[in-house]
Amino acid sequence: MTAVITPTTGAKYAKIMAVGSYRPERIVTNAEICEHIDSSDEWIRERSGIIERRYAAPDESVVDMGTAAAALALSRSGVAPSEIGMILTANVTHPYPTPAAAAEIAYRIGAINAGALDIAAACAGFCYGVGIANDLICGGTAKYVIVIGVEKLSDWVNPSDRGSAFIFADGAGAVVIGPSDHPAIGPTIWGSDGAQKDAITMTQSLIDYRNNGGEMFPALAMQGQQVFRWAVSEMPKVAMRALAAAGVELTDLAAFIPHQANMRITDALAKALKLPANLPIARDIAYTGNTSAASIPLAMDRMLTAGEIPSGGAALLIGFGAGLAYAAQVVLLP
Ligand code: COA
Repeated sequence: MTAVITPTTGAKYAKIMAVGSYRPERIVTNAEICEHIDSSDEWIRERSGIIERRYAAPDESVVDMGTAAAALALSRSGVAPSEIGMILTANVTHPYPTPAAAAEIAYRIGAINAGALDIAAACAGFCYGVGIANDLICGGTAKYVIVIGVEKLSDWVNPSDRGSAFIFADGAGAVVIGPSDHPAIGPTIWGSDGAQKDAITMTQSLIDYRNNGGEMFPALAMQGQQVFRWAVSEMPKVAMRALAAAGVELTDLAAFIPHQANMRITDALAKALKLPANLPIARDIAYTGNTSAASIPLAMDRMLTAGEIPSGGAALLIGFGAGLAYAAQVVLLP
């Protein structure tokens, strides 16, 4: 006798129900960064748009920040913790290869029925998570999913590296995604280019660190010009594909929320996409720095809370970074 397996059946559509974020308390000025590198406040502002950034406290972890953002998004959504079917934690800075940060976050917020998984897609991780959450809900494997973007990059940056020390920072953002009676998350356009893996990488592996006698703790290393050229030449095409796949025109958008890599990259993307002049564009990097996987939900929460963008409006999201990995989609704002 052949077994008859009951298939999963999901919701017709999914939507972002709520967003939450967490910004660590400590403000790190450009002057403080310049204590370790030969640079200036003026140069950093002009080349990156960063005025200040936040660093987590020494005893404040990826799990602590991710929990804070997830708990806020969860309380705003009105969904019970026990109804969450999956926690996806996009990050590259949880300092333990195992267990995943997601498992501890699930435990701390009381998501007792949730699967728990970390996504290592660097600055593209949040948009990867939104795409996966949409498909988990529409596929029927989960009813509600929390997607968290969280990083403590200050642990993995060499403060003496002139090419990267001023860019990266710490923080967390999260969304609750659940079933919807109308389409609210467009198709995700994603990909990667492993041929450029060295454009953003680590100076060495943890194994090499151990084997070479503990010299030079692994730190982020970035080929700034290569990343800049790739983002500005390739990401507009990815963004246009996400718009076309969603059937949304530029003039239908209520917000453009790109990964906060660098203000000059955001400006170049806006120009290449020929965005309408009055379209709100995320510029959270000025006071938050580049928080990798956390930057898009952090910016989304700030813009919604400030009343700069409307709940229910269409936003184009695009994440891109180490891999080189990228993902983009159009969503309706919570
Ligand atoms: N402060 C002051 N001067 C600096 C500096 C710093 N931190 N870093 C480099 N410079 C100087 C160099 O010495 C060089 O001087 P020179 O012309 O007299 O030789 C000049 O600035 C240009 O150096 P370069 O390394 O070519 O800088 P750049 O113009 O490419 O700017 C970045 C560096 C990092 C700002 C730029 O490449 C960038 O924005 N890249 C994208 C990075 C990014 O977004 N990463 C996140 C991806 S998720």
